[in-house]
Amino acid sequence: MSIRKESELEGMQKVSDAVAYTLKQMRDYAKPGMTTKQLDDYGASILKDFGANSAPYKTYKFPGWTCISVDNEFCHGIPSTKKVLREGNLINIDVSAELGGFWSDNGASFVLGEDKKGHQQLVDASRQILQKAIQNIRSGVRISDIGHLIETEAKHRRLKVIRNLSGHGIGRSLHEAPAEIANYRDRLNLAKFKVNSVVAIETFISTQSSYAITLRDGWTMVGNKGGYMAQHEHTIVVTDGSPIILTEKNDIWG
Ligand code: CO
Ligand code: CO
Repeated sequence: MSIRKESELEGMQKVSDAVAYTLKQMRDYAKPGMTTKQLDDYGASILKDFGANSAPYKTYKFPGWTCISVDNEFCHGIPSTKKVLREGNLINIDVSAELGGFWSDNGASFVLGEDKKGHQQLVDASRQILQKAIQNIRSGVRISDIGHLIETEAKHRRLKVIRNLSGHGIGRSLHEAPAEIANYRDRLNLAKFKVNSVVAIETFISTQSSYAITLRDGWTMVGNKGGYMAQHEHTIVVTDGSPIILTEKNDIWG
């Protein structure tokens, strides 16, 4: 969406605070021995307190309030009573919601407890790359140039990007124009970031795979060549200068 009046910015800030606070609280709450369903129930209770609705449920009938993906699962993991979190797991939580007709989206990967499998480098790369990408977004910048920046930063760290997952416009629904803010230079995409537009910027940084494929459950995505992926996501408003980071309260910059 494009922000045209103060009430729209306020509405976007309100839903963004809800998803950001929920993501932060869920990250703090996650402990070894807990199931991903318990973690999702906790997130759901916070979103409900805000009066917010799960965006993936409302949009796609996703079977959960939030997406929780563990280890080789890249994204869209279904909260389950059978999935128990372990020390050293690479976890991704993605929280998106609707509140009062406004939609916001944010996500983060993190290592649970002690980094037994050495995932922290991948997590740090994803977070740093998101930060750099957002720092370079202002009105008039080509969307494909930000994709190029993300891919270049990943390559410098000997990492890859997922080519079939992308950031997106957001605001009056979960996914709006611009439909794809890719993590590579999409030469066919001549679009530029526009002032006052609301977009969800997300990284998809991976160790081995360049594509995500959907498992038979119809939701969970894993890598076409396996390995691990880290994602960080903020919903922002594009300006002529530094973007307004609506989901800043998720505290993923640390
Ligand atoms: Co998103
Ligand atoms: Co998301």
